[in-house]
Amino acid sequence: MKHTVVDMHAHFFPPIAREEAARLDPEHAPWLQIRSDGSGMIMTGDQPFRPVYDALWDATRRLEEMDAAGVDIQVMCATPVMFGYRYAPGKATDWCRRMNDHALALTVPDPARLKVLAQVPLQDLDAACAEASRARAAGHVGVQIGNHLGPRNLDDAQLLGFLAHCGDEGIPVLVHPWDMMGSERMKQWMLPWLVSMPAETQLGILSLILSGGFERLPRTLKLCFAHGGGSFAFLLGRVDNAWRHRDIVRRDCPQLPSSYLDRFYVDSAVFDEGALALLVEVMGAERVMLGSDYPFPLGEREIGGLIRNTGRLSAAIKPKLLGANAMQFFGLG
Ligand code: CO
Repeated sequence: MKHTVVDMHAHFFPPIAREEAARLDPEHAPWLQIRSDGSGMIMTGDQPFRPVYDALWDATRRLEEMDAAGVDIQVMCATPVMFGYRYAPGKATDWCRRMNDHALALTVPDPARLKVLAQVPLQDLDAACAEASRARAAGHVGVQIGNHLGPRNLDDAQLLGFLAHCGDEGIPVLVHPWDMMGSERMKQWMLPWLVSMPAETQLGILSLILSGGFERLPRTLKLCFAHGGGSFAFLLGRVDNAWRHRDIVRRDCPQLPSSYLDRFYVDSAVFDEGALALLVEVMGAERVMLGSDYPFPLGEREIGGLIRNTGRLSAAIKPKLLGANAMQFFGLG
């Protein structure tokens, strides 16, 4: 039997020129420099940000690579450098609307296989809720948000308000780490991606658990954290132990931290069979979804290869991880 394969964590960056980016910020807003050989560079103002290739912005190329990788459906989200959270709400709202329209345009060659998440001006609760609902009605299958807004984590009243809105409206949310902590001590070797990104995701999850945030959010909220939840699964025992033995850890959190695992999902982007086996053991086979981080250099090169090839997971649960869980999460099919 053929099972549907869904890659629920893939990125896009629209082919926007510097002039369009300048409407947000001439100095720092991201834009795409495209070369004739199919390569490109995401630029922020004058500065090169990341080398990329045409699958990032060209849906036809993307569909070819999906065919080669055996991916039926891909859920694309913005590259986090596009978030625009530090700008004035009016400018950011205009920017998010335009990026979301660009995203929908990318799905036109095959809307049944190409799905997109919206971005929202998270710095303004009303505007963020309005754009999430507008995008949902326009065809986006959910939203992607960063795991923090400057010093404010996911337990911030405004961010909880946004998540509650998404829960009430049935809008799935992917939380992606961004703007990594401690970067001033990590100038080399992509350390922020290797050290801080997993910690940012851990911080996002623990902010919701230990604040009692999940107690206040509707159970209808569908929430997923990228990169296997970062450091979360490996460190859950440490967190439960702290909750049991220190009253300052359990002050705002009435239940054992591990009792909140049924409130969120994670993707499978962990790049190691042992890590994936641990993740499935901790989260359950219903709560892990194939996510590749395609088409970036730190993404899974053979999309779904880790799940397909591992001998540590039973054949019975692989179709859930490869697609069935995501179909249900996003209400596809
Ligand atoms: Co990503």
